[in-house]
Amino acid sequence: MLNELKNIEKIKINEFQNDLISWFKNEQRDLPWRKDKDPYKVWVSEIMLQQTRVDTVIPYFNRFIEWFPTIDDLAKAEEDKILKAWEGLGYYSRVRNLQSAVREVKEKYNGVVPNSPEEIAGLKGVGPYTAGAVLSIAYGIPEPAVDGNVMRVISRILSIWSDIAKPASRKIFEQAVRHLISHEDPSSFNQALMELGALVCTPTSPSCLLCPVREHCQAFEEGVQEELPVKTKKNKTRHVELAAALLFDENGKIVIHKRPSNGLLANLWEFPNVEIIHSLEHERGKVVEQFHQLLDLEVQLEKAIGQIEHVFSHLIWNIRVYTGEITSVIQESEEWKLVTFEEMQEYAFPVPHQKMFKLFLEQKK
Ligand code: ADE
Repeated sequence: MLNELKNIEKIKINEFQNDLISWFKNEQRDLPWRKDKDPYKVWVSEIMLQQTRVDTVIPYFNRFIEWFPTIDDLAKAEEDKILKAWEGLGYYSRVRNLQSAVREVKEKYNGVVPNSPEEIAGLKGVGPYTAGAVLSIAYGIPEPAVDGNVMRVISRILSIWSDIAKPASRKIFEQAVRHLISHEDPSSFNQALMELGALVCTPTSPSCLLCPVREHCQAFEEGVQEELPVKTKKNKTRHVELAAALLFDENGKIVIHKRPSNGLLANLWEFPNVEIIHSLEHERGKVVEQFHQLLDLEVQLEKAIGQIEHVFSHLIWNIRVYTGEITSVIQESEEWKLVTFEEMQEYAFPVPHQKMFKLFLEQKK
């Protein structure tokens, strides 16, 4: 047994499972992906929930299942449509990988999500967490599903002081769950850990007095629940200065651009923008020059209508927003389009670009 797991011997495993699972059965939230155990729906929900809060996910999940009710529907969907379904959720490679993976399920596994750890973990975008979640929740297989919330809960129950920001720590927590998990009801067990992390065993000020497994909790016994988990800070975020423009043609149509198929926000649509390297380039005349040099767009800019900040996980965009006109003919292509406001609704824009458009509409009033 790993030294970090030495406290596991103090846990009365059967009682722990019963206390945790009974609590879950009484207190669980009524969530749309809990209505049935369709592995496809469980999978979609777990991918959405990876970097996004439950409250945010609910309407996205419902619409996604309405648009793509089955693996078959998602497999044959257009990429623009799946990006539109994900618009605003962030981490868009999640949905592209999900589509590649369901296509593989369709072709290789006859449309049935595989129930073996090796096969499911081989699918694109399916890491150990998602594999464990789908196997346990949809198929009742006792596999760990360890995400940040579960690491927090287990670090407290067993007083584990390993740094949860380090990828190597996950193995310790997976081992812990393998020891603790109920073999009668792995689905409720794993979901109960997630639910406990969300409702009771929260990052700050955990509600220990309401906790169904307080009696089993080493951190509570030692009075260190607020010091756990140990989580080091990640590297500093990078700042990027941008100038973006809402550009109109003589018919009042607006210019939009498709981002490259690789990298940040791949294949999403945006308003034309350039990175500002020196603060001098923020001057309007310089921005016009940059649009010409870097984007091959001839433009006339009016004054800046505002400034937008958007925080990504490792990056902050600071965008100065202009309005203006294009003064040369624009060649429409796969990457460049001129659209009406109504047509724009069909395209998926990242949140900072949605904010720009909102800013524009507010100023127009
Ligand atoms: N967070 C991650 N997976 C979850 C689930 N299935 N239910 C609620 N919250 C979650």
